[in-house]
Amino acid sequence: MIFYFSGTGNSFRIARSLSTALGERLADMTRVSLENMCDDKVGFVFPVYAWGLPRVVEQFLKRLSGVTAPRYVYAVLTCGDDIGRTDVLLRRTLQKAGWGLHAVFSLRMRNTYVCLPGFDTDSAEVEQAKEKTWKTRLEEVIQVVEHEGRSTAADLIPGALPGLKTYVLRPLFNRFLISPSRFRVDEARCKHCGACAQVCPLQNISLENADRLPHWGNHCTHCLACYHVCTAHAVNYGSFTRRKGQVKVLNSRNDIGVF
Ligand SMILES: Cc1cc2nc3c(=O)[nH]c(=O)nc-3n(C[C@H](O)[C@H](O)[C@H](O)COP(=O)(O)O)c2cc1C
Repeated sequence: MIFYFSGTGNSFRIARSLSTALGERLADMTRVSLENMCDDKVGFVFPVYAWGLPRVVEQFLKRLSGVTAPRYVYAVLTCGDDIGRTDVLLRRTLQKAGWGLHAVFSLRMRNTYVCLPGFDTDSAEVEQAKEKTWKTRLEEVIQVVEHEGRSTAADLIPGALPGLKTYVLRPLFNRFLISPSRFRVDEARCKHCGACAQVCPLQNISLENADRLPHWGNHCTHCLACYHVCTAHAVNYGSFTRRKGQVKVLNSRNDIGVF
């Protein structure tokens, strides 16, 4: 079984490739029921947010308490740059649920974070270079997981000052920069197409008000799928994202749901 969460599609691409290569079932963390879960080998695939786990992933992992720990557990963390100590947070969270973690890998993919000055999407050249590298790395990951091997420190991309990022910057980021209340829609640009609502993995956006504009509920994990999917560039996060790039979103909700 491979549990995945993906906002814009990077992690979903990895989860889908692993599923095909290993013959393992895919399950969307936001929708799966854990009843009767008894697989021997379990993988987790999700993006790194602020050098840690997305909220929705933390919430899912807490639900594992009480589920019998599998023989082999692995994780693939996708990131745009580096993961800090996300692997340590993941291991601790799993431990609390009585689960181990035998192998953990990180893969550098398209960057999707654009909400602060200095952060933008990758150029086409950078994106292509990353894709070439992660595809090669993924083949190696598949080999290790297939044989239920262990990972090493070389399988991770902690970046510079990983402890500072995860233990100091991350809490600040979560406190001040993760809030659906900062999403804004440019009314003149919005085409009321509903793509933002449709792509939201948490079904947190509604267009059912009289103005037919998107409204965000409180159940947001900050994946930015709503921002990236808007072809009119009408969705913004405060004023930070007005001139930022967008990535093409692969909608994991429409493709494969719960098995
Ligand atoms: C809110 C947010 C925070 C992010 N934080 C990080 C980070 O700390 N380090 C990093 O390398 N990439 C970061 N990224 C980039 C994503 O981890 C990366 O692009 C990931 O592959 C996206 O996966 P997805 O397409 O499956 O959602 C962040 C993206 C978002 C939306």
